[in-house]
Amino acid sequence: MKAGAVTPGQRYSARLIEMALPSVELGEVMVRVREVGIDGTDIEISGGRYGESPSGQDFLILGHEALGEIEDSGNAKFKKGELVVPIVRRPDSCVNCLNGQYDMCLEGNYKECGIKGLHGFAREHISENPKFLVMVPASLRSIAVLTEPMSIVTKGIDQAIEFHHRYSNPVQVALVLGAGSLGLLATAFLRVQNFNTYTLDIVPKSSLKGQLVEALGATYLNGASLSIPELPEQIGNLDIIVEATGNSTVAFQAMTALGRNGILCLMGVSTGNKPLEICADCLDMEMVLGNKVVFGTVSSNRSHFERAVELLASIERNWPQWLSKLITRRLRIDEFTDALHPTPDNIKTVIQLL
Ligand code: BGC
Ligand code: ZN
Repeated sequence: MKAGAVTPGQRYSARLIEMALPSVELGEVMVRVREVGIDGTDIEISGGRYGESPSGQDFLILGHEALGEIEDSGNAKFKKGELVVPIVRRPDSCVNCLNGQYDMCLEGNYKECGIKGLHGFAREHISENPKFLVMVPASLRSIAVLTEPMSIVTKGIDQAIEFHHRYSNPVQVALVLGAGSLGLLATAFLRVQNFNTYTLDIVPKSSLKGQLVEALGATYLNGASLSIPELPEQIGNLDIIVEATGNSTVAFQAMTALGRNGILCLMGVSTGNKPLEICADCLDMEMVLGNKVVFGTVSSNRSHFERAVELLASIERNWPQWLSKLITRRLRIDEFTDALHPTPDNIKTVIQLL
């Protein structure tokens, strides 16, 4: 079968390879991969900045956002043709992992398919343990490849909302920084909650990103001509901010923009070692006197995937066809290396396997 692989740590190593079908271990089911989404992590890995091969191997099959179809199951739980999404992270033996909270791993010996120590899903077949497969209704087929990124968004924003439940006042204003696929999914999530939502990116309002934000009843802000710390003067006290650009400077600006009792969820990852000069006293004082919360969030577990499926369904109900507009490029597995070079206005590239 065909697979899209890289040599971790080596730039420009992305290539299409031919490999044998996976063997089906006891208790596993064979899944035919139908679609694989590409995200920033895949691009980081293909740039040689992240990623780890399975032990004893010198290549890594990429792809951690996938939609598959049950091909053959000796398992009564699944029928041939049913749709499933595989979970990315796999547990080690820490107490959180053992309790299904492998997204909150304590020891760091977890593995992640297509990222860290396990092959990913950019291949025609995978063989999986059903406990890492999440069922998806056929009605969501065209957009179910977005389940994994939605699970990341769900985990982050549900926590932010939970923090906010400590206070009597309702969430008034939410701000999303970045209108890439995570930022747009975050905007949709916040609009499902009916929050007054602003989403900022640096492209014009007339762009597809701007239009997608406004179609949800949120307000698009062009950050090219705006200062993040000054935003509260225009849009009011910021209760929840979701950082989805992965730009560390933006993350620190967001801390300053955060309102009284505000909650900042850091979802974008910055690789690199960029320094930044800040007024540490000012930030510390604002954080304390403002009861502010800043937290990071990574990965997701089964419960987040299941909730993501429900949320995708409710976004689809509220704004029919909106989710499918996030998929701006569909390529074939033979175009695997092109998939890792998105154009600037691209939102989500999906590789379709036949
Ligand atoms: C994936 C997560 C993963 C994280 C860090 C993200 O792109 O969606 O599942 O935990 O990268 O490796
Ligand atoms: Zn663990």
